[in-house]
Amino acid sequence: MFEVFIIFAIAALSSVVLIVGAWLFLSLIGLIKTRVPYVPVPTAISDAVSDIVAQTTNPVVFYDIGSGDGRVVFSVASKIPTASAVGIEISPAPFLLSLAKSAYKKLPRVQLRCVDAEKVSYRDATHIFLYLFPHMVKRLYPKLKQELQPGSVIISCDFPIVGVTPHEVKEVTAQYKKYTLYVYNV
Ligand SMILES: C[S@@+](CC[C@H](N)C(=O)[O-])C[C@H]1O[C@@H](n2cnc3c(N)ncnc32)[C@H](O)[C@@H]1O
Repeated sequence: MFEVFIIFAIAALSSVVLIVGAWLFLSLIGLIKTRVPYVPVPTAISDAVSDIVAQTTNPVVFYDIGSGDGRVVFSVASKIPTASAVGIEISPAPFLLSLAKSAYKKLPRVQLRCVDAEKVSYRDATHIFLYLFPHMVKRLYPKLKQELQPGSVIISCDFPIVGVTPHEVKEVTAQYKKYTLYVYNV
């Protein structure tokens, strides 16, 4: 009986080590590629972003560039059932997590893609959300400016687009930390 317990314990421990190791390895791949870590926003921020997007009366095509576990995409898709919500994530670990959450949530107009944000066209976007580091915001902005239609909105969390005046700045406190949402009308 004791031997069975030991074998079971070793098997369980090996599985945990394997899963955690695979997760760390997949996370590392994304981090090496982008130098932007996976740091999810708190619910108060995904709610605030959804509220900003919900202000429009026109059809919504929302993109979260660097969508992590998909929480902002799911929040927008839940709040605005007619919206198409697209998550773009380069790092396999958070992307797989977003797929798992998506299977559970069953939101029909959500699309999740594991791809480099710089290889995606944003011509159909009405709203873009960014929670990226300054170097990525700076790299992506010229592409967004070229592809987005007039009237589109970019919301950047904590890292403003340098040299561009936001239309609105909104501060949200969550988990004892102050976040700033910079809203730009293209
Ligand atoms: C700070 S996290 C934000 C996650 C999510 N947007 C949220 O707010 O919860 C930034 C994410 O962007 C992803 N990322 C960074 N550069 C990227 C790129 N070039 N293409 C796609 N995803 C990228 C990272 O892998 C990371 O998961």
